[in-house]
Amino acid sequence: MGGWLSLVRALHLFLEEIRGDADNVETGSSNLPLPTIIFMNILKRGAEAILYKEDDQLVKERISKGYRISEIDNPLRKSRTKGEARLLSEARRAGVNAPKVFETDEFKIKMEFIDGIRIKELFSKKADLKIAEEIGKSVGLLHKNKIVHGDLTTSNMILKDDIVYFIDFGLGSQTQRIEDFATDLSVFKEAIKSTHFKDMESIWGSFIKGYKQTNTKSQEVLNILEKIEKRGRYIKR
Ligand SMILES: Nc1ncnc2c1ncn2[C@@H]1O[C@H](COP(=O)(O)OP(=O)(O)OP(=O)(O)O)[C@@H](O)[C@H]1O
Ligand SMILES: [Mg+2]
Repeated sequence: MGGWLSLVRALHLFLEEIRGDADNVETGSSNLPLPTIIFMNILKRGAEAILYKEDDQLVKERISKGYRISEIDNPLRKSRTKGEARLLSEARRAGVNAPKVFETDEFKIKMEFIDGIRIKELFSKKADLKIAEEIGKSVGLLHKNKIVHGDLTTSNMILKDDIVYFIDFGLGSQTQRIEDFATDLSVFKEAIKSTHFKDMESIWGSFIKGYKQTNTKSQEVLNILEKIEKRGRYIKR
């Protein structure tokens, strides 16, 4: 039965590829030939990677993008993979929950599979403010430890057993610049504005309450955030 499902998935991928959508898996130019894809248990195809399960663990594999020339595409995929694996481990060292990294190679990270619910789906049902505060505490810890996530959206957070795990550090970095931390917060604020508009104020309030508890430089970051927002309003006008 599982074999048939994989076959159907592979056929689906193949048909999408023929249609030529740039964001799709490029089986021809990647290191994933069609027969391999047939036997993979693909969970998701993100914007830049496919994610599948192997031995109960999750593999995130960055697939070549046909529209980027390989001289640019390969180094970019390699550096994002390496950077993501490093930051996942750094985040855990800082006391923030993130999947354990088991193995990495050029384009792949094999990590702990977090069998939970994404915060995006959770907040869409009900804005859990205790969880929003926990998210704020974790982001404060990341920033205190000089880690910027780079893509703080509720799709990149998973709740399992009342613990929020952070994933998708591919755009993250290690930095000392207050502006980078403020930008991280700005991305999160925009994300909740667009995805959880109705509860945006309360989620943001609880998030900041948590953030202030763990990041001693929170006020400096919030001052810069205010400047970024003013600039944004000025540009929009
Ligand atoms: N360790 C994990 N355990 C469980 N699910 C995961 C894990 N990592 C990723 N996922 C699932 O796969 C999705 C995509 O993963 P991720 O965000 O890392 O990839 P992406 O290519 O950056 O995708 P996107 O563009 O959608 O953000 C996540 O939203 C989540 O549902
Ligand atoms: Mg993501």
